[in-house]
Amino acid sequence: MDKPDRKKGNARRSPKPPPHWRDDIESVLISPESLARRVQSLARQIEKDFIGRDLVIVALLNGTVVFLADLLRGLSLPLRLDFIGVSSYGISTGSDELVFTKELRLDVRGRDVLLVDDILDTGKTLARVTANLRQLGPRRIKICVLLDKPSRRVEKIEPDYVGFTIPNHFVVGYGLDYAERYRNLPFVGVLRPEIYEQPDSTSEKKASAPGR
Ligand code: IMP
Ligand code: MG
Repeated sequence: MDKPDRKKGNARRSPKPPPHWRDDIESVLISPESLARRVQSLARQIEKDFIGRDLVIVALLNGTVVFLADLLRGLSLPLRLDFIGVSSYGISTGSDELVFTKELRLDVRGRDVLLVDDILDTGKTLARVTANLRQLGPRRIKICVLLDKPSRRVEKIEPDYVGFTIPNHFVVGYGLDYAERYRNLPFVGVLRPEIYEQPDSTSEKKASAPGR
């Protein structure tokens, strides 16, 4: 039921999350098995494209942690790894200011960068991050995202590697969060709108309402 179209990586919805998640998760969009298969096929593609290159993987914190851990272990080629911390606040008021919480430390000048993020939504985050990275003089920057939500795009960002193209749902799990929760779900699931539309939600939740 929840098998994606593996060639295109398009996710299809399957109805039932495990019982203990059903209060919060409406449906499983991508099963652990589909994630595992797709991540390995992304790793094969990336290996082919970066063989013999001086590769630096730059991952955005925190949403990439689970995807990245699986992807990295699937890559059999020499590489370096570093992180950029980026977060946003004020989403509930419509502002979407990005704050850098950790700067890149590795030197990427003349090197091939693979920029990894969990999900490409409006494209604002990756537009900003790639513009910053370009200033550091890498030989090239390729973009890899686990999920792509093209329907909400406002910036012109073309990812080079996409795990799954998904419809416009707010999703959590496999590293993706809502208000820092749900990152540990082994699947990607659609969050019930009641969870983020609760009138009595905490200030912590309000500060990180869906959007990034
Ligand atoms: P963008 O800047 O709008 O492309 O947003 C990218 C960031 O927004 C991602 O790195 C996520 O942190 C977050 N984001 C966007 N959509 C979702 C979602 O459906 N679930 C969880 N996080 C999301
Ligand atoms: Mg993120």
